[in-house]
Amino acid sequence: MVVNSKGGCGKTTLAANLASYYSGRVNTVLMDYDPQGSCMKWLSLRPEEYPVIHGIAAYQKPSGVTRSWQLRAVAHAERVIIDAPPGLTGPALYEHVRQADTILIPVLPSPIDIHATEHFIQELLLAGKTRLHNKRVAVVANRVRENTQVFHKLERFLASLKLPFIAKLRDTQNYIRAAQEGIGIFEITPPSVVQRDRQQWGSLLAWLEQDATAKEKVIRAKRNQSRV
Ligand SMILES: Nc1ncnc2c1ncn2[C@@H]1O[C@H](COP(=O)(O)OP(=O)(O)OP(=O)(O)O)[C@@H](O)[C@H]1O
Ligand SMILES: [Mg+2]
Repeated sequence: MVVNSKGGCGKTTLAANLASYYSGRVNTVLMDYDPQGSCMKWLSLRPEEYPVIHGIAAYQKPSGVTRSWQLRAVAHAERVIIDAPPGLTGPALYEHVRQADTILIPVLPSPIDIHATEHFIQELLLAGKTRLHNKRVAVVANRVRENTQVFHKLERFLASLKLPFIAKLRDTQNYIRAAQEGIGIFEITPPSVVQRDRQQWGSLLAWLEQDATAKEKVIRAKRNQSRV
């Protein structure tokens, strides 16, 4: 799940790019919990020739079908990416946290965003050991312009957290172009245009996969045990 109560920090950008990355590899579901429906809009722009991403407009009460019918694609998915809405706090935040194995918090290098994210993280960590048990939480710096004072401020803030800071993504038109075309930066051609961005995603994907691979091994082992 990509979440931060602060609006505009890159939740949808991260969620859509993760979905596009995984879609070419595994069965991928993208759950849009934001009433703005940005992920669904992005999916509606996705050209047919690109790998399928199963979109779920989770912010909508399903009409004429049950919630479990709406969520049926999740049962077959190997990766489920959740785009959380802005402003999540209190019980609604904890309800979203309950659904996720892994939580990514994007944060922008701006004093207002750093301040808001500090509060958000405090609230998230207040969820305590039971709610965050077995979940991994990490921070991603987004729209980074290196060697700026405000980025150094963000780096100091991130260093003060007891959370892993797993990637910094630069501020580039590549994300805007991809968003307009219903694709991710991994699908932009020629690849040379996005070489730096792909490199920046390397540490994020490696961190995610460490966890996913370990969890999948446990699931497979349990399945094999139950077959014996
Ligand atoms: N690394 C980046 N470089 C350039 N533009 C970016 C980058 N990340 C996000 N953007 C742009 O910033 C804007 C806000 O990003 P995005 O919609 O992903 O944020 P959000 O957290 O989902 O917002 P909301 O809280 O409203 O749901 C968008 O126009 C997006 O294209
Ligand atoms: Mg969004």
